Amino acid sequence: MGAQEPVVVHKGLENVYVCESNICFIDGENSRLLYRGYSVEDLVENSFYEEVAYLLLYGRLPKREELSSFVESLRQSYELPKVMLDLLKQFPKNAHPMDVLRTGVSMLSFFDNSSDDYSRALRIIGAMPTIVASFARARKGLELVAPKKELSIATNFLYMLNGNEPDEEDARAMDIAYIVHAEHEMNASTFSCIVTASTLSDLYSVVTSGIATLKGPLHGGANERALEYFLSVGSPEKAEEAVEKTLNAKQRLMGFGHRVYKNYDPRYKILKPLAKALSEKKGKAWVYKTAEAVEQAALKRLSEHKIFPNVDFYSGILFHALGIETDLFTPIFAMSRSVGWIAHALEYVQNNRLIRPKAYYTGELNKKYTPIDQR
Ligand code: ACO
Repeated sequence: MGAQEPVVVHKGLENVYVCESNICFIDGENSRLLYRGYSVEDLVENSFYEEVAYLLLYGRLPKREELSSFVESLRQSYELPKVMLDLLKQFPKNAHPMDVLRTGVSMLSFFDNSSDDYSRALRIIGAMPTIVASFARARKGLELVAPKKELSIATNFLYMLNGNEPDEEDARAMDIAYIVHAEHEMNASTFSCIVTASTLSDLYSVVTSGIATLKGPLHGGANERALEYFLSVGSPEKAEEAVEKTLNAKQRLMGFGHRVYKNYDPRYKILKPLAKALSEKKGKAWVYKTAEAVEQAALKRLSEHKIFPNVDFYSGILFHALGIETDLFTPIFAMSRSVGWIAHALEYVQNNRLIRPKAYYTGELNKKYTPIDQR
């Protein structure tokens, strides 16, 4: 028996609007995703991550001079303080890169000398790929590769990871992956960010909260698990049986289903052909074909329940084809999403209201304290 009158509990905050926002529009029935009014397909076709980041942060497309000064400031942020690089080398080699990124962003705040939130935002967005790439090399005992300021954020990430610059096709694929992960309205991690921002905490804390929430397998962590699943299935011929076994055991298929999309996730549609092309180019076509066979088998069972593949279904295949290790997939998602998190945090505090919901108490009342030796 509750202590209060019964109320409606919005478990999972499903369909609860927590703020007004001009940043992102999703129409989950019709597979539409717009950033500041522009469709993600249009942006992928015509733009690149840095411009999309400007759009998300400032609310409009930049003029030429605005864009070049934005890009220049972002590139000034690629480098990490030496003490951080030294520490990254000492972290346990088996630490999850997502944990390293969470700690790294938090640590960046110690060295902050930014004058305002927008320069702080660029510092965070610019430095995150360096944290991830440096740790990825350090844990293998490889020399760290210093960032190149003349490279775009996506190209520079692949460069720092591998020690050589990617070709144009690989760099573009990475940039597109960056664009499609940049923003997605009020998902779990973005909500964490605005909760933190609403206490008037700082942007480093905001992004650290976002990373922590994105890590879970029901959110950003699904891309790693989706790829592991395809690799464990082993070949397209085995897909149908594997999917049956998974679904009959009432397990969830990673990279399928979405709280908002009750139709195809538009990001999935963008990433699928890219994953196909890169897998074929890199001699990993069987992984793509296995995923496609898993998709077909799963759709037979799940599409009638409006459960379709989401962004995480093919993103892992794309990253795998680029030679990126599986446990870096979610950190890449975070690197790109940092801009969306920050855009929401900055927008939210302009009309701030401390986020403080309620819990409906269902425990006992008026209990009397029992001394320890009488329990
Ligand atoms: N595989 C199998 N069944 C599923 C899946 C799935 N991937 N997703 C949902 N279902 C089923 C559930 O079992 C449930 O069935 P039931 O009613 O018989 O119990 C029904 O669909 C509704 O599921 P809910 O969990 O209520 O739906 P919700 O809106 O919470 O789901 C979620 C969203 C959490 C993403 C879910 O689809 C899921 O777990 N997917 C797998 C993980 C994943 O891919 N996450 C990435 C999401 S995209 C992102 O965060 C970037």
